Amino acid sequence: MNKVLVSLLLTLGITGLAHAAGNAEAGQGKVVVCGACHAADGNSAAPNFPKLAGQGERYLLKQLHDIKSGARPVVEMTGLLDNLTEEDLADIAAYFSSQQMSVGAADPKLVKRGGELFRGGKLAEGMPACTGCHSPNGAGLDAAGYPQLGGQHATYIAKQLTDFREGNRTNDGDSMIMRSIAAKLSNKDIEAVSSFIQGLH
Ligand code: HEC
Ligand code: HEC
Repeated sequence: MNKVLVSLLLTLGITGLAHAAGNAEAGQGKVVVCGACHAADGNSAAPNFPKLAGQGERYLLKQLHDIKSGARPVVEMTGLLDNLTEEDLADIAAYFSSQQMSVGAADPKLVKRGGELFRGGKLAEGMPACTGCHSPNGAGLDAAGYPQLGGQHATYIAKQLTDFREGNRTNDGDSMIMRSIAAKLSNKDIEAVSSFIQGLH
């Protein structure tokens, strides 16, 4: 096969994959009920409802699967995903991912400690820095399933870290990445790093 044909096939293959993912436009019409808590564009106003806007598509789809199956219990969403097809979930993930996450502000009193934890981890205790997976600006790395954190509500982040630590959220895979990290965080650490994350962009 000549080189042009090979690269053409590769391009087609890659575009084909991209199209197999969700359709953001179709997704917009399927999120009316979600807007009550997460807002129509995914930038929820209430700090206990996570922002979905700009979150990685792959990560969102995984959470939707986990919430639907009960692997991640979210009582507020009971029954809401039951009648959605695989295509609906993919379209919804594509829609929220195509939006832009708004940024909040960090508490100036907590910024220093929060930044140290986020960028440096707790080396003495073998806890890696958050930046290694969630990136220095908090954008995450969707191809690897690492969610965006930057700009997310501190209240929501703190609840997730506490849930991972207490074993109330267990959908971080067999490697238990987030459960083992959260096990090293005190309540004060969680408060500081969550506030830092809210202002990160
Ligand atoms: C009654 C309020 C409510 C409604 C309506 C709702 N959600 Fe949620 N959703 C929540 C709460 C609360 C959480 C976080 C639960 C927790 O603390 O773990 C959540 C979490 C999520 C998450 C995980 C986000 C993350 O960062 O991990 C996704 C994805 C999600 N919702 C999508 C949806 C979609 C799609 C709909 C509409 C079909 C919807 N939600 C409707 C309250 C709601
Ligand atoms: C080795 C990689 C890795 C490191 C280091 C890491 N994380 Fe994570 N984190 C993940 C993965 C993977 C997930 C998604 C788990 C899932 O699929 O539900 C996640 C999820 C999260 C979530 C849930 C996000 C949401 O929207 O619900 C929070 C909060 C979080 N991490 C905070 C942190 C903080 C704070 C640190 C540093 C103290 C950290 N992470 C370090 C890999 C990592």
